[in-house]
Amino acid sequence: MKFSLIKKCLYLLAIMLFTATSYTSIGQEAEKRIPDFAEENGLCFKCHGHKTYNYYNEWTEQNVRERMNPYFIVDSIEFYESNHWNFQCTDCHSMDYENFPHDGELRMEEKPGCLDCHGGDDTYADYHFEEIEDEFQRSVHSDKHSVDFTCWMCHNPHSYKISARTSENIKEVIVYDNNICLSCHADINKYQLISDQENPNILEKHDWLPNQQLHFANVRCIECHAKTNDSIMVAHLIQPKELAVKMCVECHSQNSILEASLYKFQARENRNKLGFFNPSLLENSYIIGANRNYYLNIISIFVYGFTLLVILIHAFLRIIIKK
Ligand code: HEC
Ligand code: HEC
Ligand code: HEC
Ligand code: HEC
Ligand code: HEC
Ligand code: HEC
Ligand code: HEC
Repeated sequence: MKFSLIKKCLYLLAIMLFTATSYTSIGQEAEKRIPDFAEENGLCFKCHGHKTYNYYNEWTEQNVRERMNPYFIVDSIEFYESNHWNFQCTDCHSMDYENFPHDGELRMEEKPGCLDCHGGDDTYADYHFEEIEDEFQRSVHSDKHSVDFTCWMCHNPHSYKISARTSENIKEVIVYDNNICLSCHADINKYQLISDQENPNILEKHDWLPNQQLHFANVRCIECHAKTNDSIMVAHLIQPKELAVKMCVECHSQNSILEASLYKFQARENRNKLGFFNPSLLENSYIIGANRNYYLNIISIFVYGFTLLVILIHAFLRIIIKK
């Protein structure tokens, strides 16, 4: 009797420890990657990695130092952390860029698009590039409106990396994804690459939303502006403003749209890693109305902990009394 009780306690403790450690071990898989073209790219970074660059002027026979156009600076750390980290600059840009001064005509060269490399490739079937392309074409942005609006406008060629699919930290994903939209909608210079119109002020346009700051830190722009799509991870069909989500209950309800958008990744990830779908893992964020059993959960943790304590005290007393 005494032994079985102690065993039970140890068993419970073991389970608690196990769940605690298995939580922390998920997501700590830092990897070191060594790029194949660090040396070749170094030739470009020599100038494009800095605010100033040097060259030898053969006409005046002098070394010259000049400022680099800030928009032409490529951050080498971001580049080597991006999805296309193992590329040579000249995989996407002409080999002729190795010469300086660059040939003026090079600026006319056509840049490769995502589908040129990823289209019809089974390695990336999971991403559904074709469907994303189709959604983009029907969105308010697409190159139907401006040939300058390409996928690169949102996916910075030198720093883009998948975030929502791989990140464990949903707040980071929200910031990353929203910054993509804000790179134009909060920056008139980039916005006007596409449009001569005045850039509507995002904060003013959303002042109907209470706690705006809190909302922008907890949901992505695409939650309200992109049409939900179950077959791709990140919906790309940005709809006209009239169709944006304005109803509070779309999120603040038991079957919140967020389950199909923002929390989609967590749901799938957890299912893959743990072999089953555990909605309680999603409840690290509390949205009024969407998680009705939140307090119940807290209470049950207390009840659970309290029971365990009683059992432990009970076992302890029995051991002492037996002696
Ligand atoms: C000696 C410094 C120097 C080196 C080395 C250099 N660049 Fe440049 N690059 C510049 C400057 C300055 C500009 C902007 C003025 C111009 O276009 O010449 C520029 C512009 C560019 C542009 C933008 C052209 C445009 O107008 O759209 C690209 C793309 C580019 N460089 C790629 C490269 C690549 C790729 C490499 C390496 C193979 C490289 N550069 C090496 C100095 C350099
Ligand atoms: C995966 C393809 C890809 C790789 C790799 C790549 N670039 Fe680019 N780069 C592009 C595209 C696409 C553009 C045009 C961006 C646009 O139109 O918005 C561009 C634009 C540029 C520009 C002009 C800046 C601008 O915004 O127009 C410079 C400078 C440049 N790249 C330098 C580099 C350097 C240096 C490297 C290597 C460290 C590099 N690129 C690697 C695709 C690439
Ligand atoms: C010049 C060809 C080329 C272009 C253009 C290109 N990619 Fe890639 N992309 C690749 C290759 C090759 C890889 C694999 C890199 C590696 O070895 O990890 C890759 C990797 C990726 C990955 C990560 C895949 C994974 O499972 O790790 C994503 C996401 C991605 N690309 C998205 C894009 C998007 C979005 C665009 C356009 C904005 C684009 N790519 C343009 C060739 C390209
Ligand atoms: C209006 C901005 C915008 C445009 C335009 C855009 N994307 Fe995206 N895309 C995003 C955002 C935001 C994400 C989410 C990034 C993240 O968290 O991984 C994303 C993610 C992706 C992903 C990764 C999805 C996954 O399953 O993990 C792919 C692939 C992709 N985009 C391809 C494309 C292609 C191809 C185009 C052009 C046809 C394109 N995108 C145009 C904003 C855009
Ligand atoms: C809670 C839902 C929600 C979120 C989050 C949200 N929006 Fe909106 N947005 C709307 C609605 C609804 C409208 C239409 C407002 C109206 O009818 O006046 C709108 C309007 C807009 C407009 C059109 C402005 C105009 O009148 O021309 C832009 C651009 C826009 N949003 C961009 C963004 C960006 C960028 C983000 C992320 C930083 C974002 N939105 C986040 C719901 C949202
Ligand atoms: C490269 C710049 C750029 C980026 C990045 C960008 N947008 Fe836009 N967006 C525009 C421009 C320009 C317009 C105006 C289009 C027009 O009406 O000509 C626009 C229009 C809109 C509209 C209003 C459509 C309407 O009905 O008036 C919404 C909503 C919107 N964008 C949301 C987003 C969201 C969400 C993201 C991020 C996923 C995003 N945008 C990223 C440039 C951008
Ligand atoms: C796109 C989904 C979405 C929409 C639409 C939305 N909300 Fe929210 N709301 C959230 C999220 C996510 C939070 C943050 C929850 C958290 O703190 O983790 C939040 C937080 C709040 C809070 C703050 C709760 C607190 O803990 O302080 C209030 C109040 C609120 N929303 C009211 C509204 C109202 C009123 C509307 C309609 C005008 C609305 N929301 C529309 C997703 C949404």
